[in-house]
Amino acid sequence: MSKYLVTGGAGYVGSVVTAHLLEAGHEVAVLDDLSTGVREAVPEGADFIEGRVQDSARHLGPSFDGVLHFAAFSQVGESVTHPGKYWENNVGGTMALLAAMRSAGIRKLVFSSSAATYGEPVSVPITESAPTAPTSPYGASKLAVDHMISGECTAHGLAAASLRYFNVAGAYGDCGERHDPESHLIPLVLQVALGTREAISVFGDDYPTPDGTCVRDYIHVADLAEAHLLAMEAISPGEHLICNLGNGSGFSVREVVETVRKVTGHPVPETAAARRAGDPAVLVASSEAARERLGWNPSRPDLAGIVADAWDFARARTAGG
Ligand code: UFG
Repeated sequence: MSKYLVTGGAGYVGSVVTAHLLEAGHEVAVLDDLSTGVREAVPEGADFIEGRVQDSARHLGPSFDGVLHFAAFSQVGESVTHPGKYWENNVGGTMALLAAMRSAGIRKLVFSSSAATYGEPVSVPITESAPTAPTSPYGASKLAVDHMISGECTAHGLAAASLRYFNVAGAYGDCGERHDPESHLIPLVLQVALGTREAISVFGDDYPTPDGTCVRDYIHVADLAEAHLLAMEAISPGEHLICNLGNGSGFSVREVVETVRKVTGHPVPETAAARRAGDPAVLVASSEAARERLGWNPSRPDLAGIVADAWDFARARTAGG
């Protein structure tokens, strides 16, 4: 059993990883400033510290075995209009965290990176050796942190992993997507099925894909969480492991909408809308590195299953107000 600090543990992915760490018998302290996370999302059994990652030196001591770092702003569109916010929080926050870890002698880190570090893919599936040319300050901030972590591993012997998520979806019990405003496809389509939104806007139907809509690699948040626990075990001092996390198969926006209709039994009206700036046509991961280096084997790749779990969460939230 180990003791971990989870920054951003009141958010979507951070809360699901916290639940998995607790189930595995670990002790967890969540550090979150609740700027986008919600207190109720923090799983029972975790200690909660309300605070900024910039102040992590106040909360980190030698009793911690490692840190899982999720605290970050994550809206691609907002990062284009407010880039400074992303440098300050995502990059500045991580600089402070790394310094605090160094002073406290904590030598293990798992970081929540993103497929957005690659930008427009040169070829798919995307491997970790693909060029990194982010198309938004959000992606650039995640890439800058990846570089910062590499330097920390080389210079100071940190053991670290950066996990580059593709399209995370689904829910795990009480932990699911609660973004406000919501911008992600699956929760938005579920709002239409629930009747709280009129129709889903399909952003572009003239992409060079089989049905003209964008293709993405959807990964169940619980499969994603399991990779974090494996990464914490797999890392070694001085090494920075970088692994994509996806299922390796793509689904179009139309296929997602159709799956939601089947799973929920509700009609989901759609309206054609203009392309969203910065959306690549196809984003599909090669997760060979995660399979080989972490021994990771996602067990919930079925899109209907991912949607069904998100649907249960969305309905429970609506019923509970
Ligand atoms: N989409 C619609 N209508 C909507 C919302 C989304 O058609 O109302 C489309 C998007 O254009 C895109 C697809 O659905 O083609 C998926 O969009 P999401 O916003 O759900 O996810 P993204 O692929 O844009 O973003 C995800 C993560 C980001 C990450 C990015 C790059 O959410 O954090 O992948 O890998 F940066």
